[in-house]
Amino acid sequence: MITTVQQHILNEQQRFPHARGRFSWLLSGLTLATKMTEAKIRRAGLLDVLGDIGEVNVQGEKQQKLDVYANNALLHCLGLRDTVAALISEENEEPITFDREQGTGEYAIVFDPLDGSSNIDVNVNVGTIFSIYRCSPEVGSKAAVLQPGIKQVAAGYVVYGPSTIFVYSAGSGVFGFTLDPAIGAYVLSHEHMRMPERGNIYSVNEANADSFPPAYQDFLGKLRKGAFGRKYTSRYIGSLVADFHRTLFKGGIFLYPPTETHAQGKLRLLYEANPLAFIAEQAGGMATDGTRRILEIEPCDIHQRTPFVIGSKDEVSRLRDSLLQAKAV
Ligand code: AHG
Ligand code: MN
Ligand code: MN
Repeated sequence: MITTVQQHILNEQQRFPHARGRFSWLLSGLTLATKMTEAKIRRAGLLDVLGDIGEVNVQGEKQQKLDVYANNALLHCLGLRDTVAALISEENEEPITFDREQGTGEYAIVFDPLDGSSNIDVNVNVGTIFSIYRCSPEVGSKAAVLQPGIKQVAAGYVVYGPSTIFVYSAGSGVFGFTLDPAIGAYVLSHEHMRMPERGNIYSVNEANADSFPPAYQDFLGKLRKGAFGRKYTSRYIGSLVADFHRTLFKGGIFLYPPTETHAQGKLRLLYEANPLAFIAEQAGGMATDGTRRILEIEPCDIHQRTPFVIGSKDEVSRLRDSLLQAKAV
């Protein structure tokens, strides 16, 4: 007996306050777009979809052909759903808004259409990250997404790897659905996912280590020396979704600290940090900007960046405490 994403939402209807038929209709637009992207990724070497398009996006980063394809798939599939009032994408400077009939347009969706796209050409895992907010004509879509992450009604990601897994939460636990290519459907494969209380893996771009604030360098030194009573190993894939997915399963800590070139870190609050922080907390983990809970940060710009620390409660709280102590002196 298989359970698809839509089936799961309907089965859990009473536990997902937002998940009337409208919500599962919305989610079907999201899953369809990711299946279109997955199909392109699977055959990337055979199609002219590798490499960059010779342009940069609003972030000033080179746009890969698959960034554009993934973005267009999401804009198309979600734009067709009358539940959607606005779409906010890493690849678009401004929100895309839709004039909807009275009583429709209940949601605004924020997404990173293709995360880790620098890894595409070397066949390494990439992902799609999304976050869903309720909005109303009074609130308006931009204001609806410029709320702290605790206001998300649902969030999740797809990791395109050896298998393609759709991981999401609507506030009542974290569920994983594996794409079954034989039937073209995401099938429930992981129920009530929990992140280990602690791990033995830390994940950071060591090339930037000399430019991290001293308290971060001190913390990483402690991990390497086994100061917390266990030996750590290092894993860094360079695709946030893949590094997070591993952390969700194995525990430990992922960090993108402030650096000399990125005083606010590199990762974006709305469509990278918030959705993954929502998943992490729903699975018993933790996510901060070093000292503050990610989900309580009041955004002021849809593309704003934030230092990002996410993972097991033990490691993330140890770092938070040492950063607060360093601030206090
Ligand atoms: P995106 O491809 O959406 O721009 O995201 C890339 C991000 C994230 O996936 C990853 O954690 C980070 O860039 C890696 O940055 P560095 O190469 O600076 O380590
Ligand atoms: Mn990204
Ligand atoms: Mn991206």
